[in-house]
Amino acid sequence: MNDYFGYTGKTVVVTGAASGMGRALTEILVDLGAKVYALDRVEPPVPGITKAIITDLGNKESIDAAFEQIPAQIDGFFGVAGISGVHNSFLETLTVNFIANKYVTDAYLTERVAEGGSISFVTSNGGLRWETPTVREELIPFADGDSWDDLVRRFGGFEAEFGTIPGSLGYILSKRLLNYFIAERVASFADLRKIRINAVLPAMTVSGMLPEFAEMKGGQDAVEADLGPGGRLAESVEMAKVLAFLGSDLASYVSGAHLSVDFGMNARQIAGLEPDRLGWTLRGVLSRQPVA
Ligand SMILES: NC(=O)c1ccc[n+]([C@@H]2O[C@H](COP(=O)([O-])OP(=O)(O)OC[C@H]3O[C@@H](n4cnc5c(N)ncnc54)[C@H](O)[C@@H]3O)[C@@H](O)[C@H]2O)c1
Repeated sequence: MNDYFGYTGKTVVVTGAASGMGRALTEILVDLGAKVYALDRVEPPVPGITKAIITDLGNKESIDAAFEQIPAQIDGFFGVAGISGVHNSFLETLTVNFIANKYVTDAYLTERVAEGGSISFVTSNGGLRWETPTVREELIPFADGDSWDDLVRRFGGFEAEFGTIPGSLGYILSKRLLNYFIAERVASFADLRKIRINAVLPAMTVSGMLPEFAEMKGGQDAVEADLGPGGRLAESVEMAKVLAFLGSDLASYVSGAHLSVDFGMNARQIAGLEPDRLGWTLRGVLSRQPVA
């Protein structure tokens, strides 16, 4: 039988490997024969991983220490970890969800991902409409160049201007930023070593994060009332399977894809068949300007 995925013997890194989508992905990758370096702030309970590395992605030194334990060449990176922002500050949310992923990419993945390798991030359907001109204008200044500390300062500047901003708005901004960042890095990674870079954008999914999203939406009933064509919430493994595909040889000509795994919810919004409430800018909301 052909090894269509091509993970056998490959070295891959998964963040957020202890729960939800990252855990489900780690189980699949181990099963497909990959050597998995699993990063999380708690011990990932997955048998067969090559190395579990306790890491706080909100802390640059902790990330540096983790990468000291990761081989100099890797074949795949999956940035799955994230926080909802519901019980996190604006800055903490942006740090874990965006700054850490950008830092890992710039400081380590450009050096370590092998020829023809892949980088996949989990962003969110909450980060849709990142490409609309007014939203994109807000994202461009953060995508290139700045160091970890500069980004922390600049995100802090939003709060200096507008006061305390809810972490849930930080969540949306972080996911939009990561979506833009992926598109922006397609060409440089292609030039470097034909490395592919993609995103999975999940709809609401059963995972460790679900209770916080339910709280934000006003309870489990509100979640159940907004399930879309799928008629149920997604399971974490359904995101993991798509991630396993995107990072594999099966997706060898796929780069710059922002794959909504939502049973068609986004398609219906784009087609005008459902209301689209996502086109607002952060500045617009914070200044209480009319939503675009
Ligand atoms: N569950 C949903 O409805 C949903 C929807 C859209 C997008 N997402 C995204 O999916 C991704 C995976 O989340 P999930 O739903 O599987 O949730 P989860 O809470 O089950 O898993 C997240 C994992 O990330 C780890 N993590 C969080 N902060 C960390 C840090 N500072 N350092 C190291 N590890 C850290 C957690 O320990 C946990 O194991 C996230 O990026 C999330 O934003 C989730």
